[in-house]
Formats: sequence, C-alpha cells, structure tokens
Amino acid sequence: MPIIAPSILSADFADLSKTFHMLNNSEADWIHLDIMDGNFVPNISFGMPVIKSLRKLTNKVFDAHLMIEQPERYLHNFKVIGVDVLTVHYETQVHLNRTVDMTKRIGMKAGVALNPHTPVSFLQDIIQDLDVVLIMSVNPGFSGQKFIEHTYQKIAEAKNLIEKTGSKAMIQVDGGVNDQNAPKLVQAGADILVAASYIFNSQNPLKAIKTLKESSLQSF
Ligand code: DX5
Ligand code: ZN
Repeated sequence: MPIIAPSILSADFADLSKTFHMLNNSEADWIHLDIMDGNFVPNISFGMPVIKSLRKLTNKVFDAHLMIEQPERYLHNFKVIGVDVLTVHYETQVHLNRTVDMTKRIGMKAGVALNPHTPVSFLQDIIQDLDVVLIMSVNPGFSGQKFIEHTYQKIAEAKNLIEKTGSKAMIQVDGGVNDQNAPKLVQAGADILVAASYIFNSQNPLKAIKTLKESSLQSF
C-alpha cells in the first residue's frame, strides 16, 4: 500500500490542533509540510516556528518539501525542529551532492523534487544517494491545481532508473492527486502520495485518507 502524506496546505490554519487530532486518528503515514519563500515559487506558506509547534501534536513523520531558494542554508534548523524527511528542489541547487550528503549526515532522509519540466534523467548521477524522488505533478506554489498527465511517464522513468541502479529511493507524487488518479499512480510506481485539496476539501478527510491508502487495491 502507498504511504499517504496529507499536505496541510489546504487545512484550516486557524484550527491546526483539530487537523492534527484528525491526522493522528487517520491512516496517514507522513505529514507533508509545504514551505514556500515567495521567491522560488509565487507564494508564501509557513516556516520554522509553526513546524516547531506542530511537532508537539504528533509522532507521525514530518516530510518537509522546501520550495525555497538556497535551502542548504537551513538544513540544521529543520533537523532541530523535528523534520524527518527533507526534500529540496533540483532547480535550486548548484551543489546538490553536497546538500544531499549534509542532509543525511545531520540525520534526516534526503529527497529531491523535480518540477514538471525537469527530466528524471538529471538524477542519474545522484539517484543512489537519495531516499526520495519527488515528482511534481503540478507547478509548485499552490494546492488545488490540475494534475499534469505526463507525470505517469515520469514516474515510470524514475522507477526504471531506480531499478537499473539498485537505488533504494522511494517515488513521491505531489499535486492534483485524488482517488481517480491514485490507482494509476501507484500502478506506475509511486510509493508516496501527497494530497492537500482532495483530503481537506472533502466532507470527510479521514475517509479520503483511507480511500487513497487503499488505492493500490483498486483497478482503473
Ligand atoms: C504544491 C505543493 C503541494 C500541494 C498539493 O506546491 O507542493 O504539496 O499542497 O496540493 P493539491 O493536492 O491540492 O494539489
Ligand atoms: Zn508539496
């Protein structure tokens, strides 16, 4: 079954305690934290003080998706506030090898995210060092956008690269994920599904998480 990582970007920020109570009672495995700086992406979300407070509300894995320029400046800070998996964007990096190495040495799992236009093949010389490959299925910056269909092909390419090199990396998909495309994403090779609006805009977020979790069992 896929790992489900609800992104709290679509949650009610005035009532995050209630959100985390729901998440703790759900089948969510990871909590996806979208960090935006208003430079790399045209939006600003939330940052370290918020994550530090949220850390007290759950024992679930904190999966930080950094949509910020020069994320390497803050690796230690994210570790200290309790982030478990730290993903930087390929497009922000000059010395990606150094950033990944440092992330792991500090004691976090290391992920690299690819924008929709960035080829999977750009990871061929680093794939063996990665814990997570994050394939963006929308342009990063906002929740609630339309899923880009080309993503299936990129997942298949990532799966191929991982198998060919013997890498242990997991494939994560982020953007426009819902109960309709989830079975096909899992079938293509996705290990981790991120979803914000599908979960938090639904009548029953707990049930939406369960439905995504069981998506690999459904046919399409
Ligand atoms: C987009 C973020 C996503 C976003 C997903 O920049 O990285 O994690 O919250 O939102 P949905 O699932 O609504 O597309
Ligand atoms: Zn994200």
